[in-house]
Amino acid sequence: MTEKTASENIEDEEIVIDVDEPELTVEDLPGVGPATAEKLREAGFEELLAIAVMSPSELAEQAELGEAVSAKIIAGAKKMANIGGFVSGSALLDRRKTVQKLTSGSSSLDELLGGGFETQAIVEVFGEFGSGKTQIGHQLAVNTILPLDKGGFDGEIFYIDTEDTFRPERIAQMAEAVGIDPQEALDRIHVARAYNSAHQILLVDEIKRMSKNIEVKLIIVDSLTSHFRAEYIGRGMLAPRQQKLNKHMKELKQLSDINNALVLVTNQVMSKPDAMWGDPTKAIGGHIVAHASTFRLYLRKSKGGRRIARLIDSPNLPDGEAVFTVTTEGLRD
Ligand code: GTP
Ligand code: MG
Repeated sequence: MTEKTASENIEDEEIVIDVDEPELTVEDLPGVGPATAEKLREAGFEELLAIAVMSPSELAEQAELGEAVSAKIIAGAKKMANIGGFVSGSALLDRRKTVQKLTSGSSSLDELLGGGFETQAIVEVFGEFGSGKTQIGHQLAVNTILPLDKGGFDGEIFYIDTEDTFRPERIAQMAEAVGIDPQEALDRIHVARAYNSAHQILLVDEIKRMSKNIEVKLIIVDSLTSHFRAEYIGRGMLAPRQQKLNKHMKELKQLSDINNALVLVTNQVMSKPDAMWGDPTKAIGGHIVAHASTFRLYLRKSKGGRRIARLIDSPNLPDGEAVFTVTTEGLRD
């Protein structure tokens, strides 16, 4: 499967990865006919790995199958799913050396992230409405076009817009402020409006296809969770929603690895007007989104139009905060 291919070729970023290699589907599992496949899919089990980690009783309940059948399906999935292999620490270090960092326009925000927004990573930016998530998306899109010596990636951008908040005028303003021709900037940012979560997922496939001919360095999903939140309502929908989100994020991570690109996803916080002492930093999508993200930035508004970004649970950086502002020219200290 493609995921394995990506990690096996860890030393060689130039290697061509065939992302079209057919993946095994639930139909390939022993004892799974069309009806059972349908049940598995309806319960949100599209991936063998998702099945392989279930217990027979859990799978039986969620997919409405018998326990014996479930046990057989799980055993098959364990054999066929790509559980992943081990690679040496030095191979991983070599791969880390290819990581590039993108400036945000705010040196304090860059510093918080250890020098900028990294490739081969998913950065989740979450916070309440108006906290600046979409502004960060626009600014990073513009900065991705900058040459390497100016903190950019000299690359192209795919922007999945789920809330219809992408503004070309804003891109033009920010581009001009950093000395990029606004027309060039707009030409290198490829925008798609996602109409629902299924469409959003399909657009990632489209990026996979298009990135063979385009030097994609930044992928933005703004917002990652709004469609999922609106479509999957109620307790019974939580498991399928999380499974879909999990798969979606894995595909995004794969794109970031294959292309040595940065993935930026935005997410809102849960509004809990009734819980005065509830954790305000709880984001939608819960553990699945939090785990799948490499870096998590929590944004909040402060006095005088300032924004505070807090780095949360980073694998290799200290937790901390940075203050920045959103100006007409874009993100600044
Ligand atoms: P939701 O998507 O609603 O959750 O919010 P968000 O976090 O994406 O907020 P967004 O990034 O859209 O931030 C909006 C804020 O950015 C506005 O309230 C302004 O403070 C600021 N902003 C947006 N455009 C401009 C601009 O052209 N000039 C200035 N000075 N500020 C701007
Ligand atoms: Mg927004």
